[in-house]
Amino acid sequence: MSEQVDAVLEAKNIYSGYGKLQVINGISLYVKRGEMVTIIGPNGSGKSTFIKTIIGLVTLFSGKVYIDGKDVTGKKPYEIIREGIPIGYVPQLANVFPSLTIEENLKMGYYTKKWDKSFTDRVRVLFDLFPILEERFKQRASLLSGGERQQLALARSLMPTPRILLLDEPTAALAPILAEEMLQLIVKMRKELDISVLIVEQRAKRALQLSDRGYVFVTGTIAAEGTADDLLQEDKIRKLYLGQKD
Ligand SMILES: Nc1ncnc2c1ncn2[C@@H]1O[C@H](COP(=O)(O)OP(=O)(O)O)[C@@H](O)[C@H]1O
Ligand SMILES: [Mg+2]
Repeated sequence: MSEQVDAVLEAKNIYSGYGKLQVINGISLYVKRGEMVTIIGPNGSGKSTFIKTIIGLVTLFSGKVYIDGKDVTGKKPYEIIREGIPIGYVPQLANVFPSLTIEENLKMGYYTKKWDKSFTDRVRVLFDLFPILEERFKQRASLLSGGERQQLALARSLMPTPRILLLDEPTAALAPILAEEMLQLIVKMRKELDISVLIVEQRAKRALQLSDRGYVFVTGTIAAEGTADDLLQEDKIRKLYLGQKD
């Protein structure tokens, strides 16, 4: 059983990797209902690998994964989709289908339901958050800017009404102003859709400021964890991971 009573995601003592290469070396973390939690850490520390392990894209060697109280340990991505496990994922450098329209892209994300009136209902809810997608609904995604495409990728992941969203560096390809806009949008989305968020962010300080808690990954382990405020104030963390000398 999941130990955290109100955890929407709990990963216990995770070891995972590629073939014989072990990248994640015993990581435990959780996200409670309504929380936004940030993972920070140097390049190559296993942030993406960990996120992918949760949804079965990377081989789990040992450990347990619970999503919304359900044991999903070892499940493949198609099983997670087929069983309607309420989790969404936006990969690092997410792609949209450029030759499809915005509408068709959103339908691609709507895999757990039939494409009937409820597709329209869901899209309407998301239009409040992403007005640009309503304006451009019938246009091809190739006509969107980088920031707009990222909004489309985010909206697409929200189509099946997940309870938790895994975001792997959603601002990576964006200019600073657009990156801030995207982070604000994520905060707004989280509030309005009542969704929990686990986010990997290079803009570590900014992401922590917007989060409830954080984890610092170093070589596939957790080097530090705590409330966002505590991590932001800890000297060692600031110097090593937040780019602040004092
Ligand atoms: N598909 C893969 N096959 C083998 N090794 C990989 C693969 N993807 C990532 N790695 C290795 O796993 C380690 C962690 O990578 P990654 O999870 O992408 O780190 P981060 O997201 O923190 O930058 C790195 O050493 C990387 O080279
Ligand atoms: Mg990564």
